[in-house]
Amino acid sequence: MKTLITDSPRLAAHYLTRGGLVAFPTETVYGLGADVFNEKAIRKIFTAKGRPIDNPLIIHITSVRELPMLVRSVPPVAQQLVDAFFPGPLTIIFPRHKGVSPLVTAGLPTVAVRMPRHPTTQKFLRACRTPVAAPSANRSGRPSPTTWQAVRDDLDGRIDCILKGGPTRVGLESTVVDCTRKVPVILRTGAITLEEIQKIHPGVKLARHAGTGSPKSPGLKYRHYAPEAKIRIIDTPAQIHPVKSAGYIGLRSPSEGFGEVKICSSLADYARVFFHFFRVCDRKKIRTIYCERVPKRGLGLAIMDRLERAAHP
Ligand code: TXA
Ligand code: MG
Repeated sequence: MKTLITDSPRLAAHYLTRGGLVAFPTETVYGLGADVFNEKAIRKIFTAKGRPIDNPLIIHITSVRELPMLVRSVPPVAQQLVDAFFPGPLTIIFPRHKGVSPLVTAGLPTVAVRMPRHPTTQKFLRACRTPVAAPSANRSGRPSPTTWQAVRDDLDGRIDCILKGGPTRVGLESTVVDCTRKVPVILRTGAITLEEIQKIHPGVKLARHAGTGSPKSPGLKYRHYAPEAKIRIIDTPAQIHPVKSAGYIGLRSPSEGFGEVKICSSLADYARVFFHFFRVCDRKKIRTIYCERVPKRGLGLAIMDRLERAAHP
């Protein structure tokens, strides 16, 4: 199959509404979308990515008016998070409407919904005129794609279209919050921090495995985010002897001699670039990537979750 690369949201949407697979930018990472109500198209997502079918998909919307066709009810805890964070990098788990195929939700009685904020995503989704189911647009197990070129590297010839945008602003996936119980539970840490959610729901809980690098949300039990290179988490670059076959990413400067280096100016910068850095290192045949540990606070919680999963795939 030939993969068309375009910067036209309308053209990309045309492919999607005809049953195609379309990769598109969001503020977090690139997604691989299909019409949520087209089972044949949904099936193709799992094939193109090599994704296990027991890993459910997030449904992307542009307006809360789309919720009634996807969810059975909007629990009060969910409504407060919708009001606070939609549109934005938060995914909410609702009770599933029976019109949503079990293929999308991996047979679960719940459904994940998110409303991206990125203007290009919104243009694309509006032109689709249907909610769009989309996982991250990487081959299963690989680092999430934060540029359209990363999507092309993983999926060229396997999908119908790539909607080009710039590098993603956040660089880390959305936070996934289960709102089907009395107290919201964070299943996957991400771009919206625990502290931000606590301002709305002081009682919010972190699922036992969220933010700790081991499984809970169905998808989290698989090999994840891993480059070809080995990931090693370190406390300080001073503890590592730099060699050309190794890379380093962190907040502090290492001594000279690493094959590839990224010094991040803040936690937000770290979050934005580490998936990209993994891919740059793979292209340069770097064998080990040293990642500086950061405190598990704010964005640091999600960064450490991804690094730990990548280190122990
Ligand atoms: O930022 C993001 O969330 C990106 C962009 C494209 O929106 N998407 C993304 O999708 O990261 P994916 O498929 O890579 O991760 C979705 C996560 C998985 O861990 C999956 O198990 C979980 O959300 N999930 C989806 N539906 C769920 C459900 N009904 N219950 C619990 N977890 C669910
Ligand atoms: Mg993913």
